[in-house]
Amino acid sequence: MATFDRIALVTGASSGIGAACATALLADGWTVVFAARNRQALEQTVAEAIGTADGASGAPAAKTLRDRAVAMTVDVCDRASIDALFAGIAGRFGRLDLLFNNAGVFPPSKPVDEVTPEDWDAAVRTNLSGMFFVMQQAFRMMKAQRPQGGRIINNGSLAAHAPRPESVAYTATKHGVLGLTRAASLDGRSCGIAVGQIDIGNAATAMTAHVEQGALQGDGSMRPEVRMDLRHVASAVVTMARLPNEVSIQSLTVLPTTMPFIGRG
Ligand SMILES: NC(=O)c1ccc[n+]([C@@H]2O[C@H](COP(=O)([O-])OP(=O)(O)OC[C@H]3O[C@@H](n4cnc5c(N)ncnc54)[C@H](OP(=O)(O)O)[C@@H]3O)[C@@H](O)[C@H]2O)c1
Repeated sequence: MATFDRIALVTGASSGIGAACATALLADGWTVVFAARNRQALEQTVAEAIGTADGASGAPAAKTLRDRAVAMTVDVCDRASIDALFAGIAGRFGRLDLLFNNAGVFPPSKPVDEVTPEDWDAAVRTNLSGMFFVMQQAFRMMKAQRPQGGRIINNGSLAAHAPRPESVAYTATKHGVLGLTRAASLDGRSCGIAVGQIDIGNAATAMTAHVEQGALQGDGSMRPEVRMDLRHVASAVVTMARLPNEVSIQSLTVLPTTMPFIGRG
């Protein structure tokens, strides 16, 4: 079994926020498991992350980076697949110090009466049940390992606090993530597991590609919204991750300063 200093798992690491945060953690000295469904996209992301981290000042040499960046497939909607991911982490590294619980979907925007059972199920299975079962496995591993403990950062959303119009499934699941974070952070106290949440507004990923053209507002108007570069999200996650486990950022909101959130609706 390989021994590396600090082991991080990032779900949804094949694109967007997960890819940016996994890359930043790698450059910050973590051994990182990049996890998602699409193996080809994961392997491409790992190769790019090694290139990026290699160019960062003070980062270890590319050869060392190649040992510290690992792609593992997982479908967070499938519990057997989650079990296999954690068996892979246990077998290869023997412990887990950080989970960035990030994989998520945004179902098509529809008013409540038009949401299909398929859209609802996809949101609940990925954003809520998927996030819970991944967190549960991380919790079990962190509780059993010696030294005991670790950190879990759940990726909520501004929608964990205030909805966008026509987003009932996404909003309900992200409100659920807030409940997961709060309950788990209470249970984590007794075993050295720090559980916090990051709530992100309009980061530049495929999920928000449309908002610069126009996003539906609470008053029914369409207005273009700004987006922020992913490096700001990555730097916020690295800041949370760097803390010793006895210290927590319980909740961190990062958003473009002029985005309609405070005063939404
Ligand atoms: N972008 C924003 O402004 C924003 C704001 C607030 C919150 N968020 C949250 O940030 C997270 C990432 O979103 P993003 O904007 O980076 O979107 P994205 O680029 O679409 O990334 C979503 C990631 O989740 C993975 N994923 C989806 N379903 C999965 C499943 N069943 N099993 C495993 N992985 C799965 C995808 O990979 P595969 O398809 O390869 O599985 C992909 O890597 C989501 O939880 C989202 O709600 C984003």
